[in-house]
Amino acid sequence: MFHKTIYTDRRNRLKKELGSGIALFPGNVNAAFNYPSNEYHFRQDSNFLYFFGLDMPGFTGIIDVDNNQEFIFGNDVDIDDIIWMGKQPFVKDLAAEVGVSNTAPYNELAKFIKKASEQGRKIHFVPPYRGETIIELANLLEIHTGAVKQNASVDLIKAVVKLREIKDAHEIAEIEKAMLTAYYMHTTAMKMAQPGVLEQDIAGTIEGISLAMGGPVSFPVILSINGQTLHNHAHGNILEKGRMMVTDAGSESSLHYASDITRTVPVGGKFDTRQAEVYQIVLDANMAAIEAIKPGVLYKDVHFLACRTIVNGLKNLGIMKGDTEDAVQTGAHTLFLPHGLGHMMGLDVHDMEGLGENFVGYNDTLKRSDQFGTAYLRLAKPLKPGFVLTDEPGIYFIPDLIDKFKSEGKFTEFVNYSKLESYRDFGGIRIEDDILVTENGCRVLGKPIPKTIADVEKTMAEPREWLKKEGFI
Ligand code: GLY
Ligand code: MN
Repeated sequence: MFHKTIYTDRRNRLKKELGSGIALFPGNVNAAFNYPSNEYHFRQDSNFLYFFGLDMPGFTGIIDVDNNQEFIFGNDVDIDDIIWMGKQPFVKDLAAEVGVSNTAPYNELAKFIKKASEQGRKIHFVPPYRGETIIELANLLEIHTGAVKQNASVDLIKAVVKLREIKDAHEIAEIEKAMLTAYYMHTTAMKMAQPGVLEQDIAGTIEGISLAMGGPVSFPVILSINGQTLHNHAHGNILEKGRMMVTDAGSESSLHYASDITRTVPVGGKFDTRQAEVYQIVLDANMAAIEAIKPGVLYKDVHFLACRTIVNGLKNLGIMKGDTEDAVQTGAHTLFLPHGLGHMMGLDVHDMEGLGENFVGYNDTLKRSDQFGTAYLRLAKPLKPGFVLTDEPGIYFIPDLIDKFKSEGKFTEFVNYSKLESYRDFGGIRIEDDILVTENGCRVLGKPIPKTIADVEKTMAEPREWLKKEGFI
């Protein structure tokens, strides 16, 4: 974990933002997957991690703003636990490591909350996303489970977003560690993308690299020659020459900061003309966004810059036509790019999404579009130094969407449907980088992962033996 002063400082800043009341942060508990004692790999709640740092189940943190006090509720292990888990520190020692001096057994928490409620004090909590937490909050607050989410505190959500959206140097260093893992994951995937290889061989290998380098993957690996399906988690295809393989995968650092990278490569290692043409358009959109990212700029505007780059490129290929600005205004580009340019990234790969996307990516004056595709834009608001976000344009040829729009007579002014027919079997391309907004512009995080056509081809031509040279295997 970080030094205790970091957690103390975060809690103090939260007190200032919130002003009054009690902030209640339930940590996660273990979750069973097929019988009670067979559990999923434990993942702590990111808000609990941010303010209380402890990466184990069964704790709840309290920040009592009114009395300037902090508490951790949790139980010391007993002899049975020690037999199965080994010796564990006492709760008071764990709490001291994150600068908290008040601890109590877990069953004291209900009494603490009841007393505070009776005193008419406001108990703030953020929206829970796990059933166990909803039940726990319902019991603690003596409300119906169905009423828990609607009682979440908007004041606390806004305060937490204000703190977590700005990453400090320690957090950037953690993200860079997750980026290094992503570098090995992606360069390995590139080298393995040869005809005859099964997708699951590659998906399993890169997930293994993530685990071997200390963290689980930050989300289930997306890897497929059917990249037109945006989140394709099925890995059953055999790679064939002529197809492109999309790999969207990242890792968590040991402190749970994420990386989230996408690369798309031609099976066999050489782009054919058609692949290179479409790839270069996506790369141009990715690079145009990097050029534009700086404090004060709306990410919505960066998104539309990427969309215009894609429309211009597709016009050059004869797939789109008409006025670029009008095409983007009416949403014709969403036939090829039906998602947003990116999202915040940090302790969650879609950072703070559980708090509500509109609180994270929008503000009181900037409202989310309800246009097809553009509605998926997760980050639209003005950028600030310290934001970490993804830049992930793509071009997808989705046969069902092409057929739907064509049969509805949509965007005939901007889409050359007859030319498009020859791309139905193309698949999709996405290129994603993780970016830090700096004082004057931005910085692409991590050891550069090949993305120009020349660099991808060069990397794919190098044997995997280089991993040995790097001391990785
Ligand atoms: N990398 C997956 C996503 O951003 O949705
Ligand atoms: Mn992403």
